[in-house]
Amino acid sequence: MIETHQTLPERYPETANPDTVATSASDPNEHLWWQTGVIYQIYPRSFMDSNDDGVGDLTGIEQRLDYLQWLGVDAVWISPIYPSPMADFGYDVANYTDVDPLFGTLDEFDRLLEATHARGMRLLLDFVPNHSSDLHPWFVESRSSRDNSRRDWYIWSDAAPGGGPPNNWRSVFGGSAWEWDDTTGQYYYHAFLKEQPDLNWRNPEVQEAMLDALRFWLDRGVDGFRVDVIWHMIKDAQLRDNPPNPAYVNGEPPYEELLASFSTDQPEVHDLVAQMRSLVDRYDQRLLIGEIYLPISRLMMYYGEDGSGVHLPFNFQLITLPWDAKVIAAAVSEYEGSLPPQGWPNWVLGNHDQPRIASRVGRDQARVAAMLLLTLRGTPTIYYGDELAMHDVAIPPEGIRDPQALNMPGVGRSRDPSRTPMQWSADVNAGFSRGESWLPVSVDYERFNVERERDDPHSMLSLYRSLLALRSRESALQVGAYTPLPTGGNVVCYLREHDGVRFLVALNLSHAPTIVAPAHPSVNGEITCSTYRDREGARVEGRILLGGDEGVIVRLD
Ligand code: NOJ
Repeated sequence: MIETHQTLPERYPETANPDTVATSASDPNEHLWWQTGVIYQIYPRSFMDSNDDGVGDLTGIEQRLDYLQWLGVDAVWISPIYPSPMADFGYDVANYTDVDPLFGTLDEFDRLLEATHARGMRLLLDFVPNHSSDLHPWFVESRSSRDNSRRDWYIWSDAAPGGGPPNNWRSVFGGSAWEWDDTTGQYYYHAFLKEQPDLNWRNPEVQEAMLDALRFWLDRGVDGFRVDVIWHMIKDAQLRDNPPNPAYVNGEPPYEELLASFSTDQPEVHDLVAQMRSLVDRYDQRLLIGEIYLPISRLMMYYGEDGSGVHLPFNFQLITLPWDAKVIAAAVSEYEGSLPPQGWPNWVLGNHDQPRIASRVGRDQARVAAMLLLTLRGTPTIYYGDELAMHDVAIPPEGIRDPQALNMPGVGRSRDPSRTPMQWSADVNAGFSRGESWLPVSVDYERFNVERERDDPHSMLSLYRSLLALRSRESALQVGAYTPLPTGGNVVCYLREHDGVRFLVALNLSHAPTIVAPAHPSVNGEITCSTYRDREGARVEGRILLGGDEGVIVRLD
């Protein structure tokens, strides 16, 4: 067993202002590592391949820990590494308490965990409680006969009275969410692929078995979990039909045609989340993050009554909203205003399911987005490669791997383009692998890679590193109050303030130059960081001239 937590340094023991910061720490003057820190998401298939089979692995991640430490992140979240038939690249788990040989062994995992802790960083796993693989022994048993002791571990139902699926629920990956099972003459429910049957969390034995799985990793010393599709975990007991979605637009995935009112976000889910939380709370400073795509008012419920929910319900607004200053400024204010008293905010620009930020807003604007992510109040999560402004890579139709695209040809957006190998160097396959890489490497990897960018002060990588360093030095940016400053034009502007230190952040979301002159406070100070890295140290007096696609952080006098 690895137990390094006692020896881990508390990296930022800054004094918090209890008026502006909500924390679940027992001492209100202290912030926890996950409140002050920055999380980095690794898609393990694509990060670093140590054995040249074309797929990334745990030892590969270990080899790159020095890079992550140099970059300045505090925690690493790794997408699933468990044994899996890989129908959904690991989100179809066949054993919750082991490592898939493709990624390595449990021993290699322990080594990685120890090496991560030795560098003062934390390690988070991806927990997938909503569904298992259809090859998980639990499901193999469950489908073997109607009277098998594990029958009720999954969601089985008779056909509708006239025949056909029990209700109208759709799979996120296309078609009905119900699959007919010939052997036992019933349907089973799968919110995603038919190879990913949903577990029946109403069954206390399932709850116990899954909590045991969490315990297994917590005892090994992992620092927490990102919990996959947590809002899906429990469904309407009567399996009522979902209503039509009045806002559905033709051409959108068929799943969107209905509102998932009865198949997701049921009131009972919060008891399950509280169970997970109370288990995690028995350990020292572990973290639960919930993957949740819901409107803000519903999202807030996942903090739980009196903070009994997840620590961080993922906030995806910077992914889902149009890149427009007014929209974003309003969303930040609404989010800040909706947080429960104990709720700590968080922000995400990208992940393995979404188009890359550099493709959504462009390479220059991605710098502005980085500045936004790393100066808002709340825990930021960086998606691997975004620090190089990696963009979506076009994959030819015959090369598509993502089941979301393969299952819904012409409709399902492929997620492959944002999952391509990390660009380490100008070597073959960008230094990711000497084998045949499972997805193609971006053609521009010789220009955009870690080796080339790390010593170039103007590179995207250097910008990320400077922003991370600034954030970790300045408690105003980590825990300071957030005050929006309305300005004209397509500019997002705000103050971060703590203990008399004030930073003004001004971000031009348009390509045209503009002038920022907020009425209050007087904008006198020094530029600490600019997205093009060419204005550091310059004075501003009264107003700020911003180039197109430029952002600045000003330390006010
Ligand atoms: C959300 C994950 O992020 C995604 O990659 C996966 O396909 C679905 N959940 C199903 O597990």
